[in-house]
Amino acid sequence: MKSTARAPANIAFIKYWGKKDSRLRLPLNSSLSMNLGSAYTTTTVESSERLKEDAVSMVDAQISLSEIGRMRNHIDFIRNTFHQAHHVKVVTKNSFPKSTGLASSASGFAALTVAACTALDLHISEKELTILARLGSGSACRSIPDGYVLWEEGNSTETSFAHSLYPASYWRLHDIIAVVDNTSKDVSTAEGMSTMKTSPFWKTRIDSIPRRLAVVKDALKKKNIKALGEMIEAECLNMHAVMMTQEPPLVYLSGKTVECIKSVWQWRKDGLPVYFTIDAGPNVHLICEEPVADEVQKRALSISGVKQVINNSVSGGTQRISDHLF
Ligand code: DP6
Repeated sequence: MKSTARAPANIAFIKYWGKKDSRLRLPLNSSLSMNLGSAYTTTTVESSERLKEDAVSMVDAQISLSEIGRMRNHIDFIRNTFHQAHHVKVVTKNSFPKSTGLASSASGFAALTVAACTALDLHISEKELTILARLGSGSACRSIPDGYVLWEEGNSTETSFAHSLYPASYWRLHDIIAVVDNTSKDVSTAEGMSTMKTSPFWKTRIDSIPRRLAVVKDALKKKNIKALGEMIEAECLNMHAVMMTQEPPLVYLSGKTVECIKSVWQWRKDGLPVYFTIDAGPNVHLICEEPVADEVQKRALSISGVKQVINNSVSGGTQRISDHLF
């Protein structure tokens, strides 16, 4: 049986940085994100009794042995959980070139989870799919439901799942990614967040999340870009302050990142309502409403260190599609 799934990457407004259980990938806090329409992974999985072992490959890009290992472990986990025996062939492809440095474990594990479960003929709910995807990579659970998604931290594997707060059609926000560096990061997110409690600020950050989350939820409800934007900037800088004060320190931002941040502040002074957020890397996500997206894209391209921009509008969640990769 063959199945293909297409999963969006997502950008977190309230970030996931730190786990309370690393084996179960239970996060220290709930997080909230938006799915991205132009940055997605397509994965085809075929299961068959004829296959003697699992095979994983990527179209148009190299895939590292550790990435292959992580995907094979995830497939093993799904197969063992549901007492399935067949081996699988997996082919995966990103919409964004690997050279953008945006290779996303979120879209990758969301697409793999949905395609593998369908190919293994498992009929499970969206909630269960988010739980399984979370076990592959935490942020992947947020790429399965539609639009604006909340990952409830929970305190067990069954209670740590993601669900849609609003569909993509509710509010057409854009995330214009300014790519300033296309090398892949030296320290993975899993490794980086494993030492987050060495920062003297980690507890203050975690204690502040319920209030931050409430502000973001309220801003989404009211479609208030100013309230949303101010909070996502503060939240992103808060996470990076923890990263930078960990031992050893983690500085994902580059000089060009800081230049983009300052440009955003200047554009706002000039009357353009755009806000930034940044994940575990130097690239800057510019969040704005649809009517100003083209202007934001034009300005981002005019910053000298910006190599490429990817203009995403908010999108639905992971879809099963009939266009197989093999
Ligand atoms: C900074 O989901 O990649 O992007 O669960 O260890 O695979 P693992 O981590 P991952 O972490 C994402 C961290 C972040 C913030 C976020 O997306 O919420």
